Amino acid sequence: MPVLGRIARRFATERPLEGVRLAVCLHVTAETANLMRCLAAGGGKGVLCAANPLSTQDDVAAALAEEIEVHARFGEDLDTYTRHVGALVEGRPQVTIDDGADLLTVMHGVQATDELIGGTEETTTGLLRLRKLEAEGGLRCPVLAVNESRTERTFNDRYGTGQSALDGILRATNLLLAGHTLVLLGYGYAGKGIAQRARGAGAAVIVCEVDPTRALEARMEGFEVMPSLEAAERGDLFVTVTGSRSVLRREHFELMKDGAVLANAGHFDVEIDLEGLGAAAAGDPREVLPLVEQYHVEGRRLNLLAGGRVVNLAAGEGHPAAVMDMSFATQALAVEHLVREAGALPPRVLDVPHGIDEEIARLKLSALGVSIDELTEEQRLYLHSWQQNDS
Ligand SMILES: NC(=O)c1ccc[n+]([C@@H]2O[C@H](COP(=O)([O-])OP(=O)(O)OC[C@H]3O[C@@H](n4cnc5c(N)ncnc54)[C@H](O)[C@@H]3O)[C@@H](O)[C@H]2O)c1
Repeated sequence: MPVLGRIARRFATERPLEGVRLAVCLHVTAETANLMRCLAAGGGKGVLCAANPLSTQDDVAAALAEEIEVHARFGEDLDTYTRHVGALVEGRPQVTIDDGADLLTVMHGVQATDELIGGTEETTTGLLRLRKLEAEGGLRCPVLAVNESRTERTFNDRYGTGQSALDGILRATNLLLAGHTLVLLGYGYAGKGIAQRARGAGAAVIVCEVDPTRALEARMEGFEVMPSLEAAERGDLFVTVTGSRSVLRREHFELMKDGAVLANAGHFDVEIDLEGLGAAAAGDPREVLPLVEQYHVEGRRLNLLAGGRVVNLAAGEGHPAAVMDMSFATQALAVEHLVREAGALPPRVLDVPHGIDEEIARLKLSALGVSIDELTEEQRLYLHSWQQNDS
């Protein structure tokens, strides 16, 4: 993670986070460990809990626990998960980093926001929740929408989710994508990456959408587009990534082929209606492989991956480090920005400053040994002055 490494080296000299209490609720992976070390290099006092009960890498959590406070264990039940988030809230953090907004929403719920300087949010679902809180007039601190920064949208969602969601599915099933039909539900930032990567591996991809512009974009990209009830009969593999709930439900399960595989790459485990699946199935599901549960629906076998939880983390290792390098570099610079501007930013969901995106892209290019052109003075004037024209 060369970009984060460069930022950590600067942080170690400048100590921009000296003494700041930081609470971090992210997937506990090796990449997150690097972020925690970067924040510590800047002088921050970080504590960490998991953003999902199934995404913790226990070896990473154990190693990190020798350096900082960590509250996370793979497969923790809901009570333990809630207790772990609560432990971070009790520390009265000044800055939060969230992936799904569990930490910041709990802090608002128990009115523990007095000392908050601000927070950052890593994913779409978290921003959705925080914007609802803001719309109700309840948001008590500025939140930087790291998820919507240019580097995150361009690299993390498209390349990171695209590759890692398929990686999680393949690790769990060893399915051959070539010659099979993948039904993608949700052609958003993350879904586009999955559709492109699946096509690259030889799958026929069907897209299901509710947004006409995105459906049209998928059609023009060359994918088949149709309602999900039609696609239900055609798919060998179904992937939900909408941020919504019950996108696949009983009426879909009853139409699916024998052997169909169901996976979710959206943030919460609500996109595949598990109650509906249980109700449609005869008897209890059987674990046929680790993280693969088989349900019998009208004599056909449907295979649910990772209990419907986010598949790239629950069945794989999440995004590759090369992608998380840029996301977490954005997190580190966003936290620095919040601390530098403490008290000056409004309690709203805010864009990450453009300069942070540019700095990260430049650092990444430099780490890759790639240099680019710069505008000439003549071009700069031409582009930036209203007095210049072509006539
Ligand atoms: N697994 C990961 O690594 C990862 C990465 C990024 C985002 N996410 C999560 O994935 C989800 C989507 O994120 P995004 O950034 O792509 O959001 P997005 O808003 O860009 O895309 C979601 C798309 O789903 C569509 N949609 C909504 N309801 C639908 C339905 N019932 N049927 C079909 N399509 C429907 C929307 O129209 C939209 O185009 C969120 O929960 C987000 O937190 C996961």
